[in-house]
Amino acid sequence: MTKDLIFAFLICISLFALDANAQIDQSGFISIDCGTPQGPNYMDAATGLHYVPDSGFMDTGVNGTISTEFQANGLEQQLFTLTSFPQGIRNCYTIRFSQGKGKKYLIRTRFLYGNYDGKSQPPNFDLHLGVDFWDTIKIDNASSPLLREIIHILSSDFVHVCLVNTGRGTPFISTLELRLLNSSMYETKSGSLQNVMRLDLGSTSSQLVRYQDDIYDRLWFPYNNVENTVPLSTSLPIDNTLEHGNAYRPPPKVLSTAIAGENGISFSWEPANATDEQYIYLHFAEIEADHVNRQFNIYVNGKLFDEPLAPDYLSSTTVFSTSPLTPRAKYQITLNKTGNSIRPPTINALEIYKVVRQFITSQTYDLDVEAIMNVKSTYGVKKNWQGDPCGSEDDTWNGVTCKYDVNPPRVISLNLSSSELHGTISPYITNLTKLESLDLSNNKLTGEVPAFLSHLAFLRVLDLKGNSFSGQMPEELLAKSRNRSLLLSYDEGGDKFGKKKKLSAGALASIVISVVVLGLLALIVLFWMIRKKNQQAGKITETERKPSPNIALELKSRQFTYSEVLPMTNNFQKVLGKGGFGTVYLGYVDNRDVAVKMLSPSSAQGFKEFRAEASLLMSIHHKNLISIVGYCVEGTHIGIIYEYMPNRSLDMQLSDKNPKPLTWEERLQIALDAAQGLEYLHHGCQPPIIHRDIKSSNILLDDKFQAKLADFGLSRILPTGEGGHVTTIIAGSPGYLDPEYYRSNKLTEKSDVYSFGVVLLEIVTGRHLLGKQDKIYVVTWVNDMLEKGDVSKVIDTRLQGEVDVKSSRKVVELAMACVSLDSRRRPDMSVIVSILKQCLREIIDYDSN
Ligand SMILES: *[C@@H]1O[C@H](CO)[C@@H](O)[C@H](O)[C@H]1NC(C)=O
Ligand SMILES: *[C@@H]1O[C@H](CO)[C@@H](O)[C@H](O)[C@H]1NC(C)=O
Repeated sequence: MTKDLIFAFLICISLFALDANAQIDQSGFISIDCGTPQGPNYMDAATGLHYVPDSGFMDTGVNGTISTEFQANGLEQQLFTLTSFPQGIRNCYTIRFSQGKGKKYLIRTRFLYGNYDGKSQPPNFDLHLGVDFWDTIKIDNASSPLLREIIHILSSDFVHVCLVNTGRGTPFISTLELRLLNSSMYETKSGSLQNVMRLDLGSTSSQLVRYQDDIYDRLWFPYNNVENTVPLSTSLPIDNTLEHGNAYRPPPKVLSTAIAGENGISFSWEPANATDEQYIYLHFAEIEADHVNRQFNIYVNGKLFDEPLAPDYLSSTTVFSTSPLTPRAKYQITLNKTGNSIRPPTINALEIYKVVRQFITSQTYDLDVEAIMNVKSTYGVKKNWQGDPCGSEDDTWNGVTCKYDVNPPRVISLNLSSSELHGTISPYITNLTKLESLDLSNNKLTGEVPAFLSHLAFLRVLDLKGNSFSGQMPEELLAKSRNRSLLLSYDEGGDKFGKKKKLSAGALASIVISVVVLGLLALIVLFWMIRKKNQQAGKITETERKPSPNIALELKSRQFTYSEVLPMTNNFQKVLGKGGFGTVYLGYVDNRDVAVKMLSPSSAQGFKEFRAEASLLMSIHHKNLISIVGYCVEGTHIGIIYEYMPNRSLDMQLSDKNPKPLTWEERLQIALDAAQGLEYLHHGCQPPIIHRDIKSSNILLDDKFQAKLADFGLSRILPTGEGGHVTTIIAGSPGYLDPEYYRSNKLTEKSDVYSFGVVLLEIVTGRHLLGKQDKIYVVTWVNDMLEKGDVSKVIDTRLQGEVDVKSSRKVVELAMACVSLDSRRRPDMSVIVSILKQCLREIIDYDSN
């Protein structure tokens, strides 16, 4: 598949049936049908989208219609007409948003030549976004629409899409569409994303999928040509609602088809440039029978891309790169089933984007743009005023001078001399707050000269000659002129600037308007600031693979309905604990106590962890890991039911509030239990599992004080091969977190060993992780004490000398080895288990079984 392949599909578009009465939410959509005669907006029969003519967005251009021979059956209505720009080098569409700045938009342009000019000469020209070059449009097939689409965060409330004549034919455009996206989608480290491909894999129809199947109106092209694969499809509904976690919302229609490859799936593509940085988004949903084991690995260019994937039944999962792939001349994606998978790998859809970095040139200061746009529309200025006012330094608006050594650029001079201006002096001018020179000479301006011009603090030149003003020159301006801070030119004498003291109605209105405008501006600025702050506060930093609630759980544990959970917990009467995810309640089922952890509906991150935990606990069993009794997934009622641990957690037992402190022997036994649980995860599971959140509050104690590890929400399965680490977004608890993992992002078993070492130190010292008075972390505290000499000083004073000196030394040594900064010097869990066993054996006649 090559970059251009995608565009070849465009001709295959067919019309969809549409219920014209459907209530459609098109907020955030702007759909412009270029070259359509001015008239009422129309609703596109195929999509239900409301298109508007382009005349409201630019003031030049000539309407055109493609030749009848190209008016193919099924061609989208918007592609029949176009606007061409025979005049001028640069012609721009300006789309203005009331609150666009900082929002993420998909901006799509389409071009169908269709020999509209009868010359049979498809042109080449450049496309600019704002100030910057976007791409070259090279039309080489008159019947095939070309598409350029970019995902871009608006840097101001204006979007300028410009067509630039490069001497190779007249630029034209057929449609211009903007679609508001969710800001958490398609995140990049920097730059905007230009779409390279978006394929609906396994689709055997020739139909393009877009709105209303896709709520964001992305265009998905049918593709069924991947070698050695077979198409799959389902007619069952697929859930892609946001509640179920996948922010990408791939359309159900796209997900309902897939390709499967008995011997793996492999496809490759070549970027237009080997230096392009690319992002990939792979969309999956299980569409064959439920509860069948399908699991596969995803490789990009031979490297394992993510942990093994088992797509959820009739629900979407999107796997994507969180940073650009390393640039290369050819990319290859391979999906191979894992050893214990019965079914072959499948994939439902795929998107490829390239990073476009050039859109970083700052555009003109927002409020200057706003002001000058208002001046333009007030006077109907007919100049080359299109696109960004300051544009680039060699492509500015006539009569506008900008200052470029500031960021963003500012308008510093406005020359509207001899421009046929009528009416009064527009108060919008005073919003150009950095204005140094204003020339309004030789126009037909009337009314009084407003005093607000004196508010322009930097104004040095003001030319008002050759107009028909009435009233007096305001004293403020005259004063500035007298003290030579302003070079003021105006026509003296006659009845212009006579003796009338009263403000004319026009001038008064101007002042009132200016006050209102200034007030509004202040409000807008304030609003921006607040919004910006909120955005920062609410910024989501993690959008990894999103889970869905269709948890294909094995049948070792039971699914409970919410109506069973209610009596089980006596209507959630007794709270055992609370956390970021929700609340844990005491329950009773099958003649035993249970702990019921209910996910709070607002916790999206919690759901992901919930799912990870539930599926993990289903598949592993060990006496030192908490066991799961059942689960409940019913709408927003999501919960896990565990065995009840009456002696709570290790941190509660160690707390100085506990009247009956743990004995040394009990402590050693708890440490050994926890170590055995971890040893099982690291060495007894294949592939190994990293707990990632070992801490004393996650070590629970049953009625016999046997310890069990709990809270597997953050656990990760470690891929085998690849050097045995995964790169993840840092997660874990402060103070327990491995500093090496924190630095390198590389997660290994040794990260759990570090956290376990911290727990061992808590066990020995009886100190809180963070000292209650001194606020010193236990690791630092023990380090300091050991440097001062005596090991016995670190032992919990509540043990009152009953502690065995030899074993306590050994445990402190072991703990300090576990918290080595260099992970290579940390022992692994099996070594830790055998040392702890030995210690216990020394204080009692411990039987190794
Ligand atoms: C132009 O595109 C159409 C449809 O995409 C295709 O059938 C035709 O062969 C193309 N023509 C050329 C000259 O490539
Ligand atoms: C404004 O433009 C006119 C015509 O181009 C020119 O004569 C005049 O000097 C300019 N005014 C200023 C203040 O530069």
